[in-house]
Order: sequence, then structure tokens, then C-alpha cells
Amino acid sequence: MAKNIQSIRGVHDILPEQSAAWQHLEETVRSLLAEYGYSEIRTPILESTELFHRGVGEVTDIVEKEMYAFADRNGDSIALRPENTASCVRACIQHGLLHNQQQRIWYAGPMFRRERPQKGRYRQFHQVGAETFNIPGPDIDAELIAMTARLWQRLGLKNIRLELNSLGTPESRAAYRALLTEHFSAHEELLDEDSKRRLHTNPLRILDTKNPAMRDLVAAAPDLHDHLDQESADHFADLCRMLDMMGIDYIINPRLVRGLDYYTRTVFEWITDELGAQGTVCGGGRYDGLVEQLGGKSTPGCGFAMGTERLLELMQAQGIENQQTTTDIYMVLVGNEAIQTGMALAEQLRTALPGLQLLMNAGGGSFKSQMKRADKSTATYALIMGEEEARNGQINIKPLRDKDAQQQIMSIDGLAEQLQSLL
Ligand code: HAM
Repeated sequence: MAKNIQSIRGVHDILPEQSAAWQHLEETVRSLLAEYGYSEIRTPILESTELFHRGVGEVTDIVEKEMYAFADRNGDSIALRPENTASCVRACIQHGLLHNQQQRIWYAGPMFRRERPQKGRYRQFHQVGAETFNIPGPDIDAELIAMTARLWQRLGLKNIRLELNSLGTPESRAAYRALLTEHFSAHEELLDEDSKRRLHTNPLRILDTKNPAMRDLVAAAPDLHDHLDQESADHFADLCRMLDMMGIDYIINPRLVRGLDYYTRTVFEWITDELGAQGTVCGGGRYDGLVEQLGGKSTPGCGFAMGTERLLELMQAQGIENQQTTTDIYMVLVGNEAIQTGMALAEQLRTALPGLQLLMNAGGGSFKSQMKRADKSTATYALIMGEEEARNGQINIKPLRDKDAQQQIMSIDGLAEQLQSLL
């Protein structure tokens, strides 16, 4: 026998029994974003690799180690998108969406990173994200955060804390970087391999090391907030005030730097302790330099992305019920004549009652086996037709969920009206 082919490591099927939960989440996000005036953008999964080198940053884990990039047949280097902010910026520049206008857009779809798979961390995963352009904030930063807070509430999610930081302008950050390099260089023997590598390329990333051996060294590092430029400090203070006004709790975490290079000023993460090591369900921030970096006119940007798998895992951990799909009717058809009459009847009912959820038995089977399927289908009623009913233009209606209710026989004419009143 030929060997079964399995899905590749870190890449998963979303099975029919899981898709109701996915759809519920996606639908909740979709309607919420529409309420805030965001429009959907769908960018391609394949992009030129250079987009992420220039957008996400050369010295990030994503670009250095995790990107699925390969030479196309004509030699061009293309990549499966590891994130979608760079793509959104590319698309907005390419289609002239940033000329003297604001944009509020959102997206949902798969992203690809070759990380070490574990719970909450996959090689193909899904994000829902929002990006805004030409709004310097901090009002829009606050709106983005309020929108995510409202989403948690709509989904019934609890215990997700908001961590917040400001990374300042590229200039103030450059000055701070020099201080950091100095601090860490003075203790180079305490740095792990990753951090040594980052010391001269991206010392800020040393701040969010998970290595406990470096905890004290990181704690003793100079504080970014003491070195923010005045405008960034004011921007951050205003954002905090707006969050206070809206009653949104937050924790200022001066060590929060995020893993992508494009951030300026505001960065934030929503984190839960209920998912183990991969507890960040949403991350985002401001990226005022990215549009220019990718060839557009200097344009402020701010956005976030959340991990769909992590949110679904959290919903499950918190016992939030899946929305199960239900069926109104299962049509049981025994014998050829009944199958033919029944098929036509099913189509007539679908025309007469738009939205009717009708599952027609297909593939034959005995009365007993069809009734078993009807029961399993979660249908409220079975419509049952055998040869005799088919000849007489009749059908049986059997309530499946109400043990005391009786089966009735009725004429096919008038069935649609009867069902409408029953359902
Ligand atoms: P990110 O922090 O790399 O940011 O990813 C955002 C979220 O995607 C994470 O908080 C997490 O929930 C989820 N995620 C990331 N990697 C994985 C993975 N391997 N498996 C499962 N879930 C994952 C960005 O991607 C930025 N583009 C966010 C942004 C938008 N910033 C501004 N605008």
C-alpha cells in the first residue's frame, strides 16, 4: 500500500468541526472593523523577498531565520509573506492610496514563518490585522487599542493585559542605541551568542531576550523612557491619557521593543498567561518611517495584527462555546421515485424559503440508516418520503428534537408555508 502523505511540520488543516469557531471569530472581527470604518484589503501571499528585507528589517529573526524565500524559475527571489504590514504599505504605494488621504484598512489571512513549532507557534498561522495611514496619532493609536479591547469583550475573552511602550523617533532611538551598546559591551562576557550577534546590529532586541541568565544585565540597562525626545514623550503621555479616559487598563513596559524593525513611538502587545510561552495574542504599533523606506512619500502609519490560532486557543481555554452550525431539515428519501421527486422538492423549498438549511440525503441507504444520518445532522425536522408518498404527492414531517411531538403526513403543496410557520 502507498504511504500516507501528511501535512508538513507546523502547518495544519482546519477541519470541518473547527471551522464554525473560525467563522465566528472572523465574522465578529469583520463586523467590528466595519463599525469603526475600516475596509478590507487582500494582498497576495507571494511577494518579492526584498519587500521584507527592506520592510521588516535585515537584522530580525523573521528575515534572518524564518522566512520562506526561494528563487522563482526565472531567478527572482520571492517569499511567502511572514506578515502583512509591509505588503499593505507596498499595495497602498503601488495603487496611490496614500495621496493626501487617510486610510483605515484591515486584512485576514495566512502568514508563514519557519519557527520551531510548539503550542501557539506554527509555520503557517493566521492573522487578522488593521493598518492606518496618514494619521499621526495618538488618537488613532488609541482607537486601534480600543477596537481590540472591544473585540475581546465581544468574544467573551478575559484576562488579556495590555503592555505599552514608546520607542521614540529614529533619532532618539539611535542615541539610546549607542547607550545600550555601551552598556552591553561593558559586560560582553555575560551575553549569549544571539545577543553578541545583536550587540552591534540591533542591541534593542537584547532587551526582550528570554534568557534568564541575562535578566540582571537587562534590568540594569538604561531606560529608553529617560531618553525619549520631547515630542515622542508628549505623544505617549497623550495616548496614555486617552486610554485612561476610555477606561482601558495598561502596563507601561519599557522593555517592550517588538520583533520587527519598522516601529517608531507607540508599540503595544496584548498578552495572556493562559497559553503558556506563546501568550501574545496581538501586537502592533506605529511605523512612521516605513512608507518612505519602501519608496513612498513620508506617511505616518499605525496598526496591529492578532494571531487567530492563539485567540481560538484562548477561547477554548476559557470555555467559550463554539457556535455550532445547525440544520433545519434532513430529507429522507427511500426508493428511486422518492429520490427524484424529493430532489425537485428540495430545490423548490430552497427557492421558496431562502436561508433554509436543508440537508438532502444523498447516496441512498435504508430508511434506518438515513434516519441515523438525520439524527446526527442536528436537523430540527426530518422530511420523509418513500415510494408510496412520492406517488401520492405527500411527505411526512417528523420532529427530531422534541420527543413528545408527533409525525404528521401532509401534501407536498403547501409544504413551504407549513415549514415557514414551523421554523
Ligand atoms: P507580530 O508580533 O510578528 O506582528 O505578529 C502578530 C501576532 O501574530 C502575534 O502577536 C501572534 O499572536 C501572531 N503570531 C506571530 N507569529 C506566530 C506564529 N508563528 N504562530 C502563531 N501565531 C503567530 C506583526 O506581524 C506585525 N505585522 C503587526 C503590526 C501590524 N504592526 C503594525 N501593524
